[in-house]
Amino acid sequence: MDNILRGKNILLGITGGIAAYKAADLTSKLIRLGAKVKVIMTPSATKFVHPLTFQSLTENRVYLDVFGATETYEIGHISLAKWADLFVIAPATANIIGKAAAGIADDLLSTTMLSMEAKTVFAPAMNTVMYGKPVLQDNIKKLKEWGFGFIPPGKGRLACGDWGEGKLADVGIIIQHIEYHLSSKKDMEGLKVLVTAGPTHEAIDPVRYITNPSSGKMGYSIAASCIMRGAEVDLVTGPTNLEPPINARVYKTDSAIDMYNTVLKIFDRVDMVFMTAAVADYRVKETASKKIKKTDDSLILELVRNPDILRELGKRKRRQVLIGFAAETHDLENHAIGKLESKNLDFILGNDVSSDESGFGSDLNRGVLFIRGEGSVPIPMMNKKEFAHRIIDEVMKRIR
Ligand code: C5P
Repeated sequence: MDNILRGKNILLGITGGIAAYKAADLTSKLIRLGAKVKVIMTPSATKFVHPLTFQSLTENRVYLDVFGATETYEIGHISLAKWADLFVIAPATANIIGKAAAGIADDLLSTTMLSMEAKTVFAPAMNTVMYGKPVLQDNIKKLKEWGFGFIPPGKGRLACGDWGEGKLADVGIIIQHIEYHLSSKKDMEGLKVLVTAGPTHEAIDPVRYITNPSSGKMGYSIAASCIMRGAEVDLVTGPTNLEPPINARVYKTDSAIDMYNTVLKIFDRVDMVFMTAAVADYRVKETASKKIKKTDDSLILELVRNPDILRELGKRKRRQVLIGFAAETHDLENHAIGKLESKNLDFILGNDVSSDESGFGSDLNRGVLFIRGEGSVPIPMMNKKEFAHRIIDEVMKRIR
């Protein structure tokens, strides 16, 4: 599955809130991801950001009023509505949500929304008290029942100085929601998937630990891709700096033992496991309860084996499809196939982490997918999002 946004027509509606400036970043990112973007602004949105910003970013004129929206002899709001694959309103004020819920069409944006056959998705942004008002929550509930999408606002410090719910969702999250609504391939619907990601931290003392350079990007991409394709996802993650994918059930873990206990609690109820985490093979035998003070002597730490989570899953598996990841610096094929057999896996993705451009921390990856009893499929260099979809394509081809 290719980048979902490439070539898609996204109509972006901008209403008058301070978060309107963030719509510029959203527009720029959507365009970089290959989408075509046209922008409608309400009159109050133009008080926050000049339309020229969006005209420059989209290389399209910005649509401002019902009577000026016509390019040819078409009716402006109708032709915009027909053009769009998705209508995203970001930021969405309480006012536009209220109008949508009441069927009011008194400007280009609300009129276009009423003419729209494609899905409309709101990203609300407003003061936390406004967001909590029963009338607004009632409008959201009603619109959801009618099939409108909502991107929940974030929590934090709002432009007015208050703290609480009401911040426009992060642009990365808005993009994930857009991808979700645009992706028509829902071949994982009904599947429960467990994904592990990131490194583990093996404590030496309260302020030091042993870890590895895994960023978690590969596992998070797998989790996001499974969600796009309709799966229910439990993401068990080691410490990372990443924003979790939308709609994932996230379990934060620290050490290999912690991850082991969490994974085993979930395992029985899932159909598939992507064990993407870079789990430490060893931990410090005795973690010091106080910070170890340096002396002139060398420090010797005794390391003991951690449980191999995947091997344990291989022993317990019944219906579950198990996909392992083997990061190797040499002799990739032999090591990967050896693990496929010894850990009782169905698939293993071998990747060479000795190269700088792919593997740990990078946005790119390449590798070879080894399939039990079948051979292998090479997956060339691509970004981790597309790479995740390619692995899932190969897995789904064989299990459905
Ligand atoms: O044996 P090796 O660590 O190379 O195997 C890699 C695979 O095994 C990965 O899928 C990794 O998540 C998993 N693993 C595990 N528990 C460990 C070590 C690795 O589940 N203690």
